[in-house]
Amino acid sequence: MAPDDASGYDLPLRPRRLRRTENIRRMARETRLSTDNLIAPLFVMAGENDREEVSSMPGTHRHTIDRLVDKATTLHDLGLPAVALFPALPDSLKTPDAAHALAPDHLYPNAVRALKDAVPELMVITDTALDPYNSDGHDGIVRDGAIDNDATIDVMRRMAVLHAEAGADIVAPSDMMDGRVGRLRAALDDAGHTDTALLSYTAKYSSSYYGPFRDALDSAPKHDAPPDHDIPETKDTYQMDPANGEEAVRELMLDLEEGADMVMVKPALPYLDVIHRVKQHSDVPVAAYNVSGEYAMITAAAQNGWLDRRACAMEALTGIRRAGADVILTYFAEDAAHWLHD
Ligand code: PBG
Repeated sequence: MAPDDASGYDLPLRPRRLRRTENIRRMARETRLSTDNLIAPLFVMAGENDREEVSSMPGTHRHTIDRLVDKATTLHDLGLPAVALFPALPDSLKTPDAAHALAPDHLYPNAVRALKDAVPELMVITDTALDPYNSDGHDGIVRDGAIDNDATIDVMRRMAVLHAEAGADIVAPSDMMDGRVGRLRAALDDAGHTDTALLSYTAKYSSSYYGPFRDALDSAPKHDAPPDHDIPETKDTYQMDPANGEEAVRELMLDLEEGADMVMVKPALPYLDVIHRVKQHSDVPVAAYNVSGEYAMITAAAQNGWLDRRACAMEALTGIRRAGADVILTYFAEDAAHWLHD
């Protein structure tokens, strides 16, 4: 038959058959997004009955504990399984040794206790990096101009136990220090918290997409150090080089050996290949963090009328799932839950 014959008999393979109607597309769909897959990051601040919008993340707020509990109740009612909590502290409580992180009844453990009292079924994920407490703005302790790996872990081990005592279901080290998963596991077990799970930020990249989060917590590395105290300008000596993919697998192997219950890739959208690679090598669930800058990009473009916020957010979340993420930490979680219920 001539190639320009349009009768169609010479074209038996037609993938469009499975795209013909919504119902046939539903049957052929490979990836599902559900509230089961979504975790909402939440910011807590001191005070009462108040909230402040994060200016670079429209629609995302810092909440006082009472308002945080209301928000968590809403998220639980929407079917979300978990929240990840981050504290916003005033500069007056930040020191080079991040000592406030270990105060037994400060904002953060108090918030965990309030959440577990009000909505016990909702899983609470706590963060053990030092940046919200560190006047140098680093995830670890700065000593002689460098980040001290083991001194940082010593603080984080005690933080993990404090968080578990307050009721945290899952402790998530986001600091990228070497060996912290194993040390945190041992500290939790020694203290009797054998049921507290560890979600490791396994492949956390030194990313510029964290900018709005650092605005939310005022936690960017500080550049106004006294002359005798040299502060590294970036997090490049502990967070991963954005150019590396194989290294994520190496980090994964170490975290699995050390006892991570879940592993995470962060950010998500510029690292979909890393999510895929980690998923292929991991025998525990894989999380991805759709970070503040990814939220800000879509939300800002939508505010300009340039993108459809709902459609782009759902496409991004579906893409992150398709890459291999079992769960996604995302500031779109509440909106996405509404959209999924529509
Ligand atoms: C720090 C931390 C960061 C985020 C979560 N934990 C920022 C950083 O490493 O500077 C970023 C999350 C986001 O951008 O949404 N331990």
